[in-house]
Amino acid sequence: DIPVAEAAQKPVKTLPDAQLVTSVKHWTDRLFSFRVARPQSLRFRSGEFVMIGLLGDNGKPLLRAYSIASPNWDEELEFYSIKVPDGPLTSKLQHIQPGDEIILRPKPVGTLVLDALLPGKRLWFLATGTGIAPFASLMRDPETYERYEQVVMMHTCRTADELNYGRELVENLRHDPLLGELYGEDFASRLLYYPTTTREESPLMGRITDNMTSGKVFEDLGLPPISAETDRAMICGSLAFNVDVKEVLEGFGLREGANSEPKEFVVEKAFVGDGI
Ligand code: FAD
Ligand code: A2P
Repeated sequence: DIPVAEAAQKPVKTLPDAQLVTSVKHWTDRLFSFRVARPQSLRFRSGEFVMIGLLGDNGKPLLRAYSIASPNWDEELEFYSIKVPDGPLTSKLQHIQPGDEIILRPKPVGTLVLDALLPGKRLWFLATGTGIAPFASLMRDPETYERYEQVVMMHTCRTADELNYGRELVENLRHDPLLGELYGEDFASRLLYYPTTTREESPLMGRITDNMTSGKVFEDLGLPPISAETDRAMICGSLAFNVDVKEVLEGFGLREGANSEPKEFVVEKAFVGDGI
């Protein structure tokens, strides 16, 4: 038995792989982001995902895959999450507050990593909904700009408010004084942003697939059409989105790669299921 006074001084870790929540921000009634302490030993490649969760009612961990949205140099880990009304995890996770603990299994994996692509000139990030999370990590990683002259973030959501997490992040990055110092004052021209909505009026509209096949995105951004020589891409959205974008990219002559066999594009599901 440990004497009471000594026990009182021991840090209480109630959960296995527990990590402290440091901040939470709600973006809409369906979306929120939060930050947690980073386990000292956790190394990951920007774009990878981990399993996180809470203790379920049965006392067992209830875990789900989550992309790490923060870059690998960050002292904390950031996540960007959906709130599924009846979702086993997110119906609870949406109520976390600073000071609470979550479970984080420190085994990062995933296909959306720079090493899975051949070198190129321009890198396209193609996302719907919370699929922007891995790119929130990669856009903040200087390695991305070491490898590619230009990065294009295309993000599509049904409504304009669902774009706000990504919009704020990209706007801040494009005018980040440190990145400006590293890469010159025209850094903003190296990170292009193309946010669109499909079910609410906004300055740019339409599905990513349609804006690519029609050529509208290339015209709007003043870029040449995608080619296998210069362009690389990463896709993250619903299964239907991933399948359709893959077809469009293959139409431009790009091939799907993997960690073990780098090619011109890689794909990962933003979630399993039909969406809500
Ligand atoms: P679940 O039972 O897991 O899901 C219920 C239903 O909700 C699903 O069938 C699907 O139709 C829908 N749904 C689930 N997640 C989403 C979503 N993100 N967007 C739209 N509809 C959804 N979720 C995130 O919020 N952020 C992430 O960064 C993230 N990264 C992931 C990475 C990978 C590789 C995978 C496979 C999934 C990822 N997910 C992410 C989804 C996540 O694992 C859970 O499904 C989500 O947290 C909901 O959990 P739940 O238990 O509440 O509901
Ligand atoms: P749309 O409104 O035309 O269906 P969801 O919430 O259903 O996951 O969709 C998120 C965004 O992704 C929406 O803007 C939606 O457009 C778009 N989207 C859904 N499926 C596809 C697809 N197969 N190809 C391209 N865009 C898609």
